[in-house]
Amino acid sequence: MQGPVAIILAAGHGKRMKSDKAKVLHEVCGRPMIQYVVEAARGAGAKTIIVVVGYAADQVRNWLAGEPDVLFADQTQQLGTGDAVKSCRHLLEGYSGPAMVLVGDEPLLRPQPLADLLNRQRAEGAACLLGTAILDDPFGFGRILRDSAGRFLRIVEERDCNPEEKLIREVNPSCYVFELPVLWDALDKLDTGNAQGEYYLTDAPQLLQSSGHKVLAQAVLEPNDILGVNARQHLAQANALMQARIQDHWMTEGVTIVDPRNTYIDGRASIGRDTVIFPFTVISGAVAIGARCRVGPFTHLRDGATLDDEVEVGAFVEINRSKLETGVIARHLAYLGDAHVGPFANIGATAVTANFDGSRKSPTTIGAHASVGSGAILVAPVTVGPGATIGAGAVVPKGQDVAEGQTVVGVPARPLGPKAT
Ligand code: UD1
Ligand code: CA
Repeated sequence: MQGPVAIILAAGHGKRMKSDKAKVLHEVCGRPMIQYVVEAARGAGAKTIIVVVGYAADQVRNWLAGEPDVLFADQTQQLGTGDAVKSCRHLLEGYSGPAMVLVGDEPLLRPQPLADLLNRQRAEGAACLLGTAILDDPFGFGRILRDSAGRFLRIVEERDCNPEEKLIREVNPSCYVFELPVLWDALDKLDTGNAQGEYYLTDAPQLLQSSGHKVLAQAVLEPNDILGVNARQHLAQANALMQARIQDHWMTEGVTIVDPRNTYIDGRASIGRDTVIFPFTVISGAVAIGARCRVGPFTHLRDGATLDDEVEVGAFVEINRSKLETGVIARHLAYLGDAHVGPFANIGATAVTANFDGSRKSPTTIGAHASVGSGAILVAPVTVGPGATIGAGAVVPKGQDVAEGQTVVGVPARPLGPKAT
């Protein structure tokens, strides 16, 4: 087993979500929470990642099935976070070294503070290094108790806190680095004498300390990194924070976002420099936008939309699984689905590709410099040749390809004949 190891707890039901879906699969900016945590652990240097699954285990396993460094441990009964870590033991038999323990419901975790935790644990030779954070509103988190000299004493859960302990603002975000195998001995000593009758992982640091091991708690985490999603309200907060982070990233890369609060950009999207995103644009899914494009206002770019450089898409244009090559313009009210649009083609107002016949989706190809008139309907599968012109309101039936340079008009569309003399 290659270390450092990361253990991510994701077996809980997440009752307050009131969902049939595993809590960690709820999405933040288009991606399930667990994905972010796996990436944060990997980014921090974890070589093997063990995800503890239980409630809706198959959903979580399926989602992460393609990740080569991820293993799964089953926690058959959700007896608490301490029991969850214990369920990894058989996978880690013979491993000695650091194990970072994280929870799958904190999607805002970033690699850097976690890498920092791993480094500090190694440098200090600690059996447990607990990353903590100081919050203005610590409600819901376990609190960190220290003695008068500031040394770590123990963690007390919100529900087990007395009124004085509730005032403590230093909290446990569930970002630990434990040294294996000594952690196993501590987990064997856990009991269920607490408000929830569970085996709390939070008791392990104190148990390690009382058996003579070095345990440290250091405030290395930022409040915004540790937002725990326990209810839908937190999911909305996590989305807002993640959205701000995504937009900040693209602005740093040279993208103009005119009105960040009224723009939504999926975490899987990419955007080239000097592109301008106007308000009320929704970019959902894996969308690739080139440089110097103008997107919006009121544009919906969906999964699989690719815009090369200098593309302009405007109000009420929806683009789905389509590629628009350089210089394509679709300024108003258009739908392009399963389409490939060649360079500098112009898509008129209310032109659409009819890509769905009720049972099947079909492709549309529009050649370079073609002009698709206002209100035209291209019934897929169909090809419009380079430089062709589709008259306003024309309906091009499926399979009735329009030749290069040809002009077609009417319903159904037919070539424009020679003018009567
Ligand atoms: C836990 C911590 C608390 C900390 C908080 C925020 C404990 C006892 N408490 O509380 O100190 O401030 O996280 O990070 O650890 N899980 C399992 N199996 C179980 C129970 C939980 O895998 O039997 C998983 C859940 O899926 C979740 C994570 O562990 O991803 C944390 O569980 P949750 O119930 O959200 O704990 P909190 O009450 O938030
Ligand atoms: Ca939680």
